[in-house]
Amino acid sequence: MRNNRHIMIAGNWKEHLTVAQASIYLNRLEEHVKTHQGIEVVLLPNVLALQPLSVQLDRRKFRLGAQDGYYMDAGAYTGEVSMAMLRELVHYVLVGHSERRHIFMEDDALASKKVQAAVRNGIMPILCVGETLQERLAGETNQILHNQIAAGLQHLTSREVGASVIAYEPVWAIGTGEYAKPEQVSKAIDFIRKQVEHLYGTRASENLRILYGGSVDDHNINAYLDIDGCDGALVGGASLNFHKFSEIVESAYRAQQKRTMRRN
Ligand code: 13P
Repeated sequence: MRNNRHIMIAGNWKEHLTVAQASIYLNRLEEHVKTHQGIEVVLLPNVLALQPLSVQLDRRKFRLGAQDGYYMDAGAYTGEVSMAMLRELVHYVLVGHSERRHIFMEDDALASKKVQAAVRNGIMPILCVGETLQERLAGETNQILHNQIAAGLQHLTSREVGASVIAYEPVWAIGTGEYAKPEQVSKAIDFIRKQVEHLYGTRASENLRILYGGSVDDHNINAYLDIDGCDGALVGGASLNFHKFSEIVESAYRAQQKRTMRRN
């Protein structure tokens, strides 16, 4: 398939690094990560660090994303930070990350509301989907992916879906060091794109970016970027190591150059 999608590398720092540590870490990253045209590098620090990093970061190299956001724009929702508050600071927001689904019991209905709120506020959602090991072993992977996609995107227009990002993150590969085989990722990505085509049409499915996430590091990234239809990676642990993360970004740049050459 020929497309104009840019490779995206997103670093999900999860609940790591205080504001001061995040600032120091960003300094190191900026020394190591080069400015590259044609790829997008997104950092997802904790919510407190978003504001100071937004002032500090080199916009030619990085964009910011939030790890979560609430769907009501304002109100009596103690402890929540809304998409309307995040919109001044971020381009992207994760929705439905498996840790939100499994530790905080967030369901597809909530993911759908958050996706809608993100889009309403001009933030691009990165909808995370993926099966547990039990579900994979029971042969339910496609069903789970279908349900999470259909529910998560249900209130968006085709154009909005095309501008969104889906991260395929098999739960069994997150933080375990047990990464998914490229064939498994390829199958899942093909399935996701076909579902989106079926639900939202060809243009949406060709424009939508699909990332892989789950124990991605500087050694296995190339195998994922070689997959037709894989538009980058959502990186957890390895995004907290500036050597590894900058190597991942370099791999993405080389892969993007190869893709661009093939297209021309
Ligand atoms: P790890 O890369 O640490 O497995 O985490 C993946 C992830 O959850 C990214 O959102």
